[in-house]
Amino acid sequence: MGRIAYVNGRFVPHGQAVVHIEDRGYQLADAVYEVWSLFDGRLADADGHFARLERSLAELAIAMPMSRRALTLVLREAVRRNRVSDGILYLQISRGVAPRDHAFPNPGVRPSVVITVKSLARAAVEAKAAKGVSVVTTSENRWGRCDIKTVGLLPNVLAKQKAKEAGASEAWFVDDLGFVTEGASSNAWIVDSDGRLRTRDTNANILRGITRHTLLRVIAEQGLEVDERPFTPAEATAAKEAFITGAGALVLPVIAVDGRKVGDGAPGPLATKLRRLYIERARAGAV
Ligand code: PDD
Repeated sequence: MGRIAYVNGRFVPHGQAVVHIEDRGYQLADAVYEVWSLFDGRLADADGHFARLERSLAELAIAMPMSRRALTLVLREAVRRNRVSDGILYLQISRGVAPRDHAFPNPGVRPSVVITVKSLARAAVEAKAAKGVSVVTTSENRWGRCDIKTVGLLPNVLAKQKAKEAGASEAWFVDDLGFVTEGASSNAWIVDSDGRLRTRDTNANILRGITRHTLLRVIAEQGLEVDERPFTPAEATAAKEAFITGAGALVLPVIAVDGRKVGDGAPGPLATKLRRLYIERARAGAV
């Protein structure tokens, strides 16, 4: 059975799913998106992703195309039609289709809604997590509103390509003061040389990761503390462990930064444990 996409009210074969050439998402990156991980065909961290979606849309004055309740039904139907158990759901909402003009269309047009769903081979994903991944660093060059999850991802695209060419899986942006902000598609964490969990605070210009947020709760339940304080790449290579979080990565151990080993160059015990605990929590709470 082929993949099915959702475009503006219709479920269509993935290969035939199209949007108009004057969609503002396509021409101007005037669009936001969300990514949910799927466990057993259900949406993980659903409320957190919906809340951030609503916030991203509100910040850009794009109307929510339907109620959260109705959208939930559409997302679930998209998953059902694709018969996906473990995987990823991608939702994109643009300001809509209008003759090209930078300012908002007047009168307002209907937002465009696109949904795609893809299956992930859980065994391959777990094998990658068991090995750990490498990251490279790159200069922070994004706009000042990284808290909004827009499709304007060109700096992230270039950073990820740099990582790929270096044989790494992720790129960490480093700001003018020398601190890691976040990854191109994930939040960055370390277990520092004192054994303390550290990740950048969300007052910084980063995405307020939903996986990050859920993991903070998991960590608190373990009786552990997190220092929401930035770290440098040098602190990461001097750290006991490092990892990244995101709807794609979940909790993924980092074993090297810019070719230098983190710890003994193998996934750390805390990152490995937190991955297991996060997945248990996400699976149990998925809707
Ligand atoms: N990316 N930071 C950035 C820049 C991201 O793009 C993402 C997610 C995260 C982690 O956020 P969350 O835990 O809510 O997924 C942090 C998604 C997965 C993507 O672009 O595909």
